[in-house]
Amino acid sequence: MTTQAKTIGVLTSGGDCAGLNAVIGAIARHAVDSYGWRVLGITDGTLGLTHTPRRYCELRPERLSAPLLHSGGSFLGSISHGEPDSEQRLVDRKQAFADGAEKLGLDALIAVGGDGSMRILHELCSYARLPMIGIPKTIDNDVRETERAIGFASAVQVVSDALDRLQPTAASHHRVIVVETMGRSAGHIALHGGICGGADAILIPERHLEIESVVTHIRRVFSSGRRHALIVVAEGVRAQVSTLKAFESVGTWLAMELEKRSGIEARCTTLGHLQRGGSPCAEDRRLAAIFGLRAVELLAGGSADRMVCWTKGAAHDVPLQDVIKGPRTVEKNCSFIAAARSLGIWIGEE
Ligand code: F6P
Repeated sequence: MTTQAKTIGVLTSGGDCAGLNAVIGAIARHAVDSYGWRVLGITDGTLGLTHTPRRYCELRPERLSAPLLHSGGSFLGSISHGEPDSEQRLVDRKQAFADGAEKLGLDALIAVGGDGSMRILHELCSYARLPMIGIPKTIDNDVRETERAIGFASAVQVVSDALDRLQPTAASHHRVIVVETMGRSAGHIALHGGICGGADAILIPERHLEIESVVTHIRRVFSSGRRHALIVVAEGVRAQVSTLKAFESVGTWLAMELEKRSGIEARCTTLGHLQRGGSPCAEDRRLAAIFGLRAVELLAGGSADRMVCWTKGAAHDVPLQDVIKGPRTVEKNCSFIAAARSLGIWIGEE
């Protein structure tokens, strides 16, 4: 496909995050103003194509309101799970997706999603023979082949702000406050947020949690004269705690365990979906602008089955095949691990 692409679809897929509306706006603006394409915003991720009647809206830049740039969520809607039938069995919607794309006359699709969405959409688009360009978004920042995904910086800001607010109350009551962040299989949010917010310990899924070693570290903090501490734990660390029940949070468990072992009062704050909502920070708006531009340029140049990415301080693009090999976790020799250590933060063992 080349610049002849006249009608393109845009959808957001997977868990939402800050910056989605900004990137949808950037795509529409450039595709319409620079190429005269028709841009259709698909409602609720793939559901807008697989359900009958198809749900979409034409994205006309002049109709897109200015608050789009700084609004949270996805005004198109998103889905973060498959579509079960009435008996809760997952249904193969490839043909329905292909039919939907044909019905709308799509020549190409720009999909804004995380690593799971890239894999699923790559499969759907290959089946439908629909050229696809991916744009990475996820607060978890775990999409392969890109150093940054839209939404990550805003989520890190939430964690950092939360720690700023929790530090004085921890200090007033001489407590340990544990902050649980999102991050199912990767600890990027916890690592970056913990460094920015001055945590004393950061626990991530990629590194071993040794509870006694955390207790020793916190005792050392207290005996040094500072009678409070902050700990950040990523939700994915729960996989290392075999006794946790499905509904129990790893942060609450950690606070209780610390209190029991050290005698120091501890509390837990779980940030949850706060990390996904709210206005995108400046960095996410910049990424949205540059990723939107590059995605449209790729389609205009005839590229397909690629994802835009951010590496070494600039936007590039990579084959989707390289992206869909599973999540990008925190590397053991990552410079932020070294930075955490240099700041005296307990970061666990490899
Ligand atoms: O966006 C990714 C993520 O934030 C994970 O860290 C988290 O486990 C998940 O989404 C929760 O998503 P939901 O509550 O929408 O199922």
